[in-house]
Amino acid sequence: MYICVCNALPEQTVRTLAREGMSFEEIQAITGCSNCCGSCKEMAETVVAESRGIPMPADALPIMQLA
Ligand code: FES
Repeated sequence: MYICVCNALPEQTVRTLAREGMSFEEIQAITGCSNCCGSCKEMAETVVAESRGIPMPADALPIMQLA
């Protein structure tokens, strides 16, 4: 699942980079996440915080819910 549609950025990429110790700002700088429409920013920040603070299994379900 894409967390940032504008940049075709998969959620798993954000989780992997965050688990490697990158901040949201660092991830944003190298991926462009939330640099376009910005609608993904809150969710991306949540994913980064969650990934840095809470160990998640590799097969964890994405936190984004379909309407
Ligand atoms: S969805 Fe991420 S900048 Fe638009």
